[in-house]
Amino acid sequence: QQKAKHTLLEAHEYTAKLYHYLLRNTEAGKPAMEYLRSRGFTDSLIEEFGLGYAPARWDTLTQALNRKEYVPAQMEAGGLLSRRQEGEGWVDRFRDRVMFPIEDAGGQIIAFAGRLLSDGQPKYLNSPETPLFNKSRTLYRLHQARAAMRRTRQAVLFEGYVDCIKAWSAGVHNGVATMGTALTAEHAAVLKRFADEIVLCYDGDDAGQAAAHKSIPLLEGAGFHVRVSVLPNRMDPDEFITNHGPGAFVREYIEGAVSAVKFQLIYLRKSHILLEEDGKIRYLRDAVKIVARRESPTERELLLKELAQEFGVSLDTLKQESLEVRRQEK
Ligand code: CTP
Ligand code: MN
Ligand code: MN
Ligand code: MN
Ligand code: MN
Repeated sequence: QQKAKHTLLEAHEYTAKLYHYLLRNTEAGKPAMEYLRSRGFTDSLIEEFGLGYAPARWDTLTQALNRKEYVPAQMEAGGLLSRRQEGEGWVDRFRDRVMFPIEDAGGQIIAFAGRLLSDGQPKYLNSPETPLFNKSRTLYRLHQARAAMRRTRQAVLFEGYVDCIKAWSAGVHNGVATMGTALTAEHAAVLKRFADEIVLCYDGDDAGQAAAHKSIPLLEGAGFHVRVSVLPNRMDPDEFITNHGPGAFVREYIEGAVSAVKFQLIYLRKSHILLEEDGKIRYLRDAVKIVARRESPTERELLLKELAQEFGVSLDTLKQESLEVRRQEK
């Protein structure tokens, strides 16, 4: 068991080196290099993140692992090879993809994500669940981000690999990413060891905003103070940094992230038509519900004041309504 894991770790280390070499030093890797350049990846980013390229042919890694005398069935269980659809034997799992190595909290490579160079499905292919890799526990870049998290007692959470990388190059060194899967209680427990505050920096599209909305109660339940970064025009962090630069990103969307409750109020707005009288009434009722659930009386009062001002109702009325909600939900 332990020996098999150790062998798999070695094989991952070797595979990452091979993919990196193929990206950096071969003709086959050129289109992948061009792709990365077109997305703003510098040499130093490619090195820091150990990016690589898995060639299009079926047996690059299969042959290389074979030469190293790794047992193919074990490499299949580790998610590096797949069984041939027809006939005997194994083939490479990742083909014609830019490769992102994924490390555990100790910095050992335990999985890969591979991205297509053009449109197609699936955009990212990740390693399957293996003896080394458990998706619902793993956070991309945790090993590198943990020191900065401890220092700042804050963690920034991204949904994508590229977002995490570009934010790192913008100076956000306490950032980690979940990998397409939803945030889990296990992720939260891991982060709690290093941070007290989470900044959710998900994509600005509907899916990203819905994911942020869902993650707030999970994170608050785990004891975090939560803030949310709401990116404009459905952009994701990578797109924002590319279009508006690292400085604006950090200032406006990391330092300027809004409180969880502010985010919930912004999010709630989207599902109400505020131009109509009864839309307004329904929005206010739901908004007061959100505010009523806040523990701090000061926070409640400040938020209710803002709502009262904006909608031209008296603070007393909203306070009364908020107390009503609190009584009912006790
Ligand atoms: N993801 C995945 N498999 C997919 C699509 C997405 O595992 N088929 C995960 C990846 O970790 C990805 C994240 O979900 O980084 C966010 O998805 P998305 O926003 O669609 O991709 P981006 O990270 O923006 O990817 P890119 O910028 O490379 O297009
Ligand atoms: Mn190198
Ligand atoms: Mn997305
Ligand atoms: Mn995205
Ligand atoms: Mn993106």
